[in-house]
Amino acid sequence: MDTILILDFGGQYTHLISRRVRAMSVYTEILPYDCGTESISKLHPSGVILSGGPSSVYEKDSPKIEKETVDWISRNNISLLGLCYGHQVLAQVLGGRVEKSRTKEYGKKELAVAGAGRLLKGIGKTETVWMSHGDHVVKPPKGCKAVASTDSCPVAAYEGENIFGVQFHPEVRHTPCGEKILKNFVFEICGCKPDWVIGDFIEKAVSGLKKEVGCEKVIMGLSGGVDSSVAAALIHEAIGDRLHCVFVDHGLMRKNEAEEVEKLFMDHIGFKNFHVVNAQEEFMSRLEGVSDPEAKRKIIGELFIRAFEKKTGELLHEFGDIKFLGQGTIYPDRVESAATSKSASVIKSHHNVALPNDMKLKLVEPLNDLYKDEVRLVGEKLGLPRELVRRQPFPGPGLAVRCLGAVTPEKIRMLREADAIIDEEIRKADLYEKLWQSFAVFLPVKSVGVMGDARTYENVIALRAVESDDVMTANWAKLPYEVLGAISNRIVNEVRGINRVVYDITQKPPGTVEWE
Ligand code: XMP
Repeated sequence: MDTILILDFGGQYTHLISRRVRAMSVYTEILPYDCGTESISKLHPSGVILSGGPSSVYEKDSPKIEKETVDWISRNNISLLGLCYGHQVLAQVLGGRVEKSRTKEYGKKELAVAGAGRLLKGIGKTETVWMSHGDHVVKPPKGCKAVASTDSCPVAAYEGENIFGVQFHPEVRHTPCGEKILKNFVFEICGCKPDWVIGDFIEKAVSGLKKEVGCEKVIMGLSGGVDSSVAAALIHEAIGDRLHCVFVDHGLMRKNEAEEVEKLFMDHIGFKNFHVVNAQEEFMSRLEGVSDPEAKRKIIGELFIRAFEKKTGELLHEFGDIKFLGQGTIYPDRVESAATSKSASVIKSHHNVALPNDMKLKLVEPLNDLYKDEVRLVGEKLGLPRELVRRQPFPGPGLAVRCLGAVTPEKIRMLREADAIIDEEIRKADLYEKLWQSFAVFLPVKSVGVMGDARTYENVIALRAVESDDVMTANWAKLPYEVLGAISNRIVNEVRGINRVVYDITQKPPGTVEWE
């Protein structure tokens, strides 16, 4: 299988570059910019892309690629493409010149293409491209020539025999010719074959799992979310009922969710060993009076692991040795936890159930090469229902982090009902799959209203609906007024205890998607 390696210089679009190449059915891997030639050679890449990044090549500790690494790559006939900061780094290390600009160039720019060359083959003489940079290249690397410019950027693209660079971002949609440029690099220049196919992935993953697990058993925690469900379905495909799934019902799921997950896996998919742990009371009593968001998360995380461990212990006793722990880790998790291995975030440590301390279970993570959209395709190909595979993300701590202040069963009831109405109306308006997330938040404030002829003094629900590609950033969704109106009317009329609905119009950053 042909591979394109992306060296990460800390750019916000690194995963986007990778996803664009995967969308061309070519496999990608992301490694840190300073991973060294040994790691690179193990991947046998057909081409290397240097990502963008926030630094200036003139900063003291800015990330640089070693000249020896570039020479090694070139010597092995592997083509290199630098994007934005990567374009500047390549120029600097290979005898070109980078200058500080007086002004930053940001946004759409007109690109004038000087010569067709190989990289820019088939694109127009002038094209709109997306720029975001301070410094710029004024002299291309030795052996390369400038092939495009903008009014403020004399070397907006250069090319040599196997060295290429563009100052702009071909991976973003604001560069309409970007796909063509990436295709030229991947297929024409690197000679990749489009052989990264999801159907083949399933076949290979199933036979890999069979080999890895042998005749042993696997246990895994299922949350009902896309990643763990698809991982479980894949493992089940490989080893059948030697897979034991544990579903901890903490009572903080969306309306009917616990029942639906159980029904789906037991009746529809036919898992024989699907174990539900009803821990609702324990979670609720431990959360009583706790209003600090981090304290809530910590309690839930700990209880979750404890419930999982306890059940695992029981299953070990009942079914004998279980040697493997299945997890729904996906590719961005793997890349991020490698990059931040010293300080794995709270989100991750809860999301991916930690290994029980005294159980020496070996990890199986069959999705750890895939992006979310690829995981969804695998799920669909394995016959999981669309409602599950296309489900919006839901945080591990569940409704607790959407119920501001101390959690009570009554507040959770109001939140859950309001959330179900939002879900229904968003689906009815055919917006569900277009939004990254849409949900209710319970606010611990009361406001005055009037219902019939009577004064009310009740609670507030906030509606949160965001659009996003990768959730690093998110925009609040410009929902049609009719949809907003229908949601508000229904919540106020149907949910006892709520008399006001507000809409959250905060971008991320500075806001987060969840309120806690
Ligand atoms: P924030 O609120 O940080 O959320 O903008 C980003 C994405 O992560 C989800 N999220 C979580 N997922 N466990 C999870 O599995 C968590 O503790 C958690 N907290 C936030 C959130 O729903 C959004 O999609």
